[in-house]
This record gives sequence, structure tokens and C-alpha cells, in this order.
Amino acid sequence: MSLGPILVFDSGVGGLSVVAALRHRLPEAALAYACDNAMLPYGVREDGWLVRRILAVCEAAVAASGCVTLVVACNTASTLALDALRSRLSVPVVGTVPAIKPAAALSRSGHIGLLATSATVARPYTLRLIETFAAHCRVTRVAADALVREAERWLAGETPDAEVVRQALAPLWEDPALDTVVLGCTHFPLLRDVLAAAAPREIAWVDSSEAIARRTAQVAAGVASHRGPGESFATARDPRLADGLAHFGFAPPQPLRVL
Ligand code: DGL
Repeated sequence: MSLGPILVFDSGVGGLSVVAALRHRLPEAALAYACDNAMLPYGVREDGWLVRRILAVCEAAVAASGCVTLVVACNTASTLALDALRSRLSVPVVGTVPAIKPAAALSRSGHIGLLATSATVARPYTLRLIETFAAHCRVTRVAADALVREAERWLAGETPDAEVVRQALAPLWEDPALDTVVLGCTHFPLLRDVLAAAAPREIAWVDSSEAIARRTAQVAAGVASHRGPGESFATARDPRLADGLAHFGFAPPQPLRVL
């Protein structure tokens, strides 16, 4: 059997929040990372274009990394393109979708928030998740695309803009009963402390990274052992990316050519 890494894909650095959970659950596994930073943010793009782009980038990244499993660590991509990716690629694909089910189970008041990109909060996939797992809850969906950039800046060592964070979260606080927030974009767990500090009260913040790591451990076979920094790939040159990737155990990004 040929050995390869598990490849984690996102539009930008958000997938690193999933890398943290993967490293915890699979400390021996080699990981690689790919991001489509040339086209970030995904959350405001048109669906048809996005599906074609995600297929092209993932196909190129799977080939370049020689991975044995692809983890799509992006809610915006997964809620749209998982089926297409699974029919196009020959490796197993693990997706990331908003953690509506655990949040609905956790909330005491029955009012939860979904903080995600414009695309994710409006997707039929997301609405089905809410219908299936949170029919007994009130769900306030908040599009917070501005936080994607703030997370990118945070990982590059800059301080997030407090006013941008305040405005992005404001719709969540209209009802004092809301007690649980789904971080439905993988960029947002990177800002968890910043978000918690900006909240007017104690909130349970729920994301999918542990569940993805569990699922990946079940499907990944033939994973190479972790030896030194993993390879990383990016579609655009950005000198600020290398530090953030190094922090999560990756070598500086190699250019990823997308056809
Ligand atoms: N990190 C991505 C997600 O989970 C999307 C960020 C973006 O490019 O808009 O949805």
C-alpha cells in the first residue's frame, strides 16, 4: 500500500483550526495543508463558479501532495461541493459542516446562533441540518464574512479590529436567551478567545473540529508517519502565510498550480 499524508484544504488559514484537532487525535499521522488564498474569501462567491474552482484546486492539491485522504476543512466548500468532490477524486473525502446537532443538544434555552459565511448561512444543506437537528430550537443565522479576514490577520500576528468583531457579533445579542453559538466557519475557532471576550455574557461556542478528527481517524488508511514539517501549498504568494503555517507544523507553502 502506498503511504501518504492526510491533506487538509481550506480557502485560507481556517483549516488550521481543524489541523489542531487532527494533531491531537492522530499525533503520528503526516499532514499536508493546501489553501486557495488567491480566491479568499469563498463565502461571498457564486455557487457555480465556486464548485468548479474547488474541484480544480482540490484535484491539483491531491495530486501535488500524494495524500491518502482529503479533509475539506471549510464549511463553505463542504455544504456545496462534497458530492462533486467525492465523485471526482479517488481518495476518501471528509467534509466539515456546521455543528448544529451538538449545539442544539447543548443549549439550555433552545435559542442558538449560527455564525458562518454568507454562503453557508443560506445554503439548502444548512437549512436541512437545522430542520433535522434543531427543529425544537430557535436558530439565529448570522453572516460574518468580515471575521474571515480578521482571522487571517490574527494568524499573521496582527490584532483583530475590535469594532469589526463587535459589529459582526451584534445580531447574536438581540435576545438575551441565546446561549450557544455554532462557529460554522473554520476560521472562527482561531478567534475563539477574541469572540468570547467580545460577548456580553458567557456563551457556549461549538465547532466541528473534534468530530472531523474522529471521522478522519475512521476513514484514513495508509497514512504516512509524521516526520518533520508537513508540506503546504497555496495558490497565491503571501509572505505572511509561512509563519502561521509553521506554528501548526508546516513547511513554507509551495505554489499550487491550478488548471
Ligand atoms: N473557512 C471557510 C469556512 O469554513 C470559509 C472562509 C471563506 O473563504 O469565506 O467556511
